[in-house]
Amino acid sequence: MDIAVIGSNMVDLITYIETMPKEGETLEAPDFEIGCGGKGANQAIAAAKMGSRVMMVTKVGDDLFADNTIANFEKHGIDTEFTEKVPGTSSGVAPIFVDPESKNRILIIKGANAHLAPEDVDRAADKLKQCRLIILQLEIPLPTVYRAIEFGNEHGIPVILNPAPASKELDFDAVCKCDFFIPNESELEILTGMPVETEEQIRQAADTLLVKGVKNVIVTMGSRGVLWMTKGESHFVASHRVDAIDTTGAGDAFIGAFSNEYVKTGDILRALKAATAFAALSVTKRGTQSSYPTAAEVEDFIAERV
Ligand code: RIB
Repeated sequence: MDIAVIGSNMVDLITYIETMPKEGETLEAPDFEIGCGGKGANQAIAAAKMGSRVMMVTKVGDDLFADNTIANFEKHGIDTEFTEKVPGTSSGVAPIFVDPESKNRILIIKGANAHLAPEDVDRAADKLKQCRLIILQLEIPLPTVYRAIEFGNEHGIPVILNPAPASKELDFDAVCKCDFFIPNESELEILTGMPVETEEQIRQAADTLLVKGVKNVIVTMGSRGVLWMTKGESHFVASHRVDAIDTTGAGDAFIGAFSNEYVKTGDILRALKAATAFAALSVTKRGTQSSYPTAAEVEDFIAERV
């Protein structure tokens, strides 16, 4: 096994809107799509589409969405031994609104994801120990995130933490031992309480995380690019220019593709470049996972741009 994602899955209910209704107003929206989502699942699918062998430690409800979510993982070759149903709960769902500028607003209802417990990490220990990278996000209980980081540290497995959605309750003492901390700008702002309007401000905010002990901070900045900082070193990788239709799940696309390339090569800069291409392609189509390209499409895209 290459990668373990210990995290969330959701059913994305995506409404394409012209304008958001005001209080008390009813508006017609032009389009709707339902798809598989959730930050953890999206990252797992992105890595699997790029060729990694992925296992998913997650919880689904006992509703009509659950079997579809499991079947979707299996269709992409993802190991579901630790994808478990929680009796009496709903699956996680995410109503999403995408505006004509391709920007999104997302609500999440965690459902079964709220039941992923620290003990679930330990129950999966034998299989997790075979992985070369663990990926985490914040759509599951924080104690589970903390236990997964500890587990990675105990077994010498590098850990990526994508602190999304940002939580002010995040205990930095518990997460500073992750190898990669990958927020977007707004998450960095919420988590550090520092402004992130200019590149210098982003650097200063990221630096506070390095001082706390995080080895690598990678700040994703949408269409601008990505800033990777370690102690004493920093690199900027520009985004590819594309016509964006729907940016939902682009950050997850980035993390999944980064993980795939990092596990295969150990080369962080190369992994950032591969992830930038994968994420750029993902915003040119509608939906979250449904917008993720194949490895061949990514290869063609990179070849055209060199
Ligand atoms: O990052 C995008 C994802 O956030 C969506 O798929 C939605 O399910 C929420 O988890």
